[in-house]
Amino acid sequence: MNAIFNRRSIRKFKDQSVEPEKIEKLLRAAMQAPSAANQQPWEFIVVQDKAALEALSQISPYSKPVANSGATFVLVANEKALLVPTAWQQDMSAAAENILLEATELGLGSVWFGVATSEEVMETLSKLYALPSYIKPFAMIAVGYPEGQGNVFVDRYKAEKVHFDKW
Ligand SMILES: Cc1cc2nc3c(=O)[nH]c(=O)nc-3n(C[C@H](O)[C@H](O)[C@H](O)COP(=O)(O)O)c2cc1C
Repeated sequence: MNAIFNRRSIRKFKDQSVEPEKIEKLLRAAMQAPSAANQQPWEFIVVQDKAALEALSQISPYSKPVANSGATFVLVANEKALLVPTAWQQDMSAAAENILLEATELGLGSVWFGVATSEEVMETLSKLYALPSYIKPFAMIAVGYPEGQGNVFVDRYKAEKVHFDKW
C-alpha cells in the first residue's frame, strides 16, 4: 500500500477547505479500524471554522499547524463504550492511523498531534469543548492540501530491529 510508505507529517497547508466527501471518507476510514472486543470507543469533533481552528491550535506548544489546516479532527473516546478499558488508547491509535493513510490516499496532507500524551493538554481540550468527564480527548489530526511539502517516501527499514525466532 503506497500510502503507508509515502505518508509524511504535513504541517503547512494551502488556504483551501477540504471537500465534505473527503471529510466523510476520512471518518469512514477511522471507523473501519480494529478495536478491542470491537468496542469502537471513538467519537470525532470535526473543526473547520477558522476562529475555532485558531483556538484549537493553541492548546499545546506543538499544535500550531492546526490554525492553517483545512479541517482538524479531534479524536475522543467515550468511556461508556469501553468493554476493555485498558485498550482505549490502542483502539484510538488504530483509528488515527487510518485517517492519516486515507488522507494520503486522497491527496491530502495530515499530521497527528498528541493530546493524551499530556494530562495538561487533555484538560485544556476538555475545557475548550466542555467535554463531559466520560469523554477522553486522545489526539488531533489536522488535514489539508499541502503547501510546499508533500507525501514522499523516506526509508526507515532497519534490519537490526528484526529478530527471527529468538531475541
Ligand atoms: C503520538 C504522536 C504524537 C505526535 N504529536 C505531535 C505534535 O504534538 N506535534 C507535531 O508537530 N507532530 C506530532 N506528531 C508527529 C510526529 O512528529 C511525526 O510522525 C514523526 O516526526 C515522524 O515523521 P513522519 O510522520 O513525517 O513520518 C506526533 C505523532 C504521534 C504518533
